[in-house]
Amino acid sequence: MSQATDAVEAARQIQKAAPGFVPRAAIVLGSGLGPLARRIDDPVRIAYADLPGFPELAVEGHTGELILGTLAGTPVACLAGRKHAYEGRIDAMKTPVRAMRLIGAEVLYLTCAAGSMRAEVGAGSLMTITDHINLMGGSPLAGPNDEDFGPRFPPMADAYDPELIALQRRAADELGISLADGVYAAWLGPAFETPAEVRMIKGLGADAVGMSTVPECLVARHCGLRVTATAVITNLGVGLSDEPVNHDQTLAAAAEAGERLQALVTAVVGALG
Ligand code: HPA
Repeated sequence: MSQATDAVEAARQIQKAAPGFVPRAAIVLGSGLGPLARRIDDPVRIAYADLPGFPELAVEGHTGELILGTLAGTPVACLAGRKHAYEGRIDAMKTPVRAMRLIGAEVLYLTCAAGSMRAEVGAGSLMTITDHINLMGGSPLAGPNDEDFGPRFPPMADAYDPELIALQRRAADELGISLADGVYAAWLGPAFETPAEVRMIKGLGADAVGMSTVPECLVARHCGLRVTATAVITNLGVGLSDEPVNHDQTLAAAAEAGERLQALVTAVVGALG
């Protein structure tokens, strides 16, 4: 089946599992951020394995489940688990993102872990992503364009919706959570960057680096979803401090900041109504 057909069929199955349910927002839960799923009221859970074109997940800390329900009164579809480009396919999340659009979501809220380029934005900080730089060396939109979803050459100005960035800032203020902002550079991985690569990334104008988010943002903007994203800073970029950078530390720092991220996402989504 083509990816477009997969997305249509997945949407049909989701609608069959939750008749009449239309999410206002879809949320992608990144590394160690799974606990947000527990805040969803009246959940209907569908395993990725039961949805055509949805990825099989392998990395520790990710499970593959779509959870439909309400979060702070707003209907949401939670993509609990993402497949990364470094696992072999940069378009691994294309069908799930398009299926979210097909079932009626208007907003895609992406969460992720990232390394910081700025010493004053250390481990445990939250950062709203204001723009991105794609260093993955590919795009999930490469190949034949599917006009049913969007144009061949989708614009990427305002990729991260300015109103939703403002909403994140207001929500963070109200919660007393400090929220940095910055440009996210997407690194293919799976190897972390070398110190020289971190210097390059910083020099290019990025404030953070991570191995996700950008493919999903590209697919989402192409099909007309508004995108907003919050990164949990789990470390300073390799070479910018003496701290080690590894996956265990990423998961531990993401879990530690998780409560604040959950509160922020809940408040933002609640305000979408
Ligand atoms: N680099 C790339 N991805 C990451 C990092 C990093 O330093 N931290 C968390 N995800």
